[in-house]
Amino acid sequence: MTALVTGATGTTGRRVAALLESAGADVRRAARSTSPGFDWLDPATHDAAFEGVESLYLLPPLATPDPAPVVAPVLERAVRRGLRRVVLLSAAAVERGTPGLGVVQDVVLGTVPEPSVLRPSWFTQNLLGDHLTARGLRAGEVVTATGDGRVPFVDAGDIAAVAVALLLDPAPPEPDVLVTGPEALSYDDVCAIWTEVTGRPARHRPVSVSAMTARLVADGMPADYAAVLAGLDGLIATGAQARTSDAVRRITGRDPRSVRDVLQEACPARP
Ligand SMILES: NC(=O)c1ccc[n+]([C@@H]2O[C@H](COP(=O)([O-])OP(=O)(O)OC[C@H]3O[C@@H](n4cnc5c(N)ncnc54)[C@H](OP(=O)(O)O)[C@@H]3O)[C@@H](O)[C@H]2O)c1
Repeated sequence: MTALVTGATGTTGRRVAALLESAGADVRRAARSTSPGFDWLDPATHDAAFEGVESLYLLPPLATPDPAPVVAPVLERAVRRGLRRVVLLSAAAVERGTPGLGVVQDVVLGTVPEPSVLRPSWFTQNLLGDHLTARGLRAGEVVTATGDGRVPFVDAGDIAAVAVALLLDPAPPEPDVLVTGPEALSYDDVCAIWTEVTGRPARHRPVSVSAMTARLVADGMPADYAAVLAGLDGLIATGAQARTSDAVRRITGRDPRSVRDVLQEACPARP
């Protein structure tokens, strides 16, 4: 089979592509920066990307407030040409039918013969690299509107392992999979683990949702997206995002990696 991986240069997609390849699958990587390029917003790039494709890791276009009308016709045409299985990357906080990714979930479940919607919690990789939280940790202060709400951070490698198991399983995949790490942590907990692992102090400063929105805008984020992300912080503060699942163990056969494991591997302690 040919497996198409969209978002193939990103945090999850590059891990999905590598795992599929090591499992012997014929992998086609798709992103604007691959060669040939694939751009959701450029229909001239779609047919070549989907030629001969039976399974798809689907990362919808990111900077598009309403991705469903972009994704739906591409999927419909691809299904007519032999696409059977799609694993969609959505998010734990996104319910079916809600604007944006929630409508994409409906499109995938209604269009594809063997659909699966992955709903991962917040990525542990947000604590590393260029993410605002990661920059905050390195600077010694993480600002959120999450209060003492907890999040079961999940490793992007575990999300990819679940996606690949579902893409390769001979049986049709589970349609809705909540993917989390092993335990729910507050940002106070995250700062404490960071401090222990790296030897560099960091603390959490809780702010209101509106102050968080302003902060994200000041960091360069478009105002509507900033309001959505800060609103998700507010949702975490209510306790609504603290639930863990057994999906990583159930689907991959091994335990999910903890925040501590991932930080220890990525951040050598200061001598
Ligand atoms: N971070 C979190 O905590 C979290 C939690 C739950 C869910 N999520 C979801 O995860 C998704 C992001 O996934 P990720 O972190 O794996 O991706 P990512 O690292 O943000 O990378 C985005 C990928 O999409 C490609 N891309 C961007 N615009 C494109 C376009 N118009 N056409 C084709 N490809 C395009 C990029 O490559 P090019 O630039 O080369 O095109 C890149 O490969 C979001 O939908 C988010 O809601 C994130």
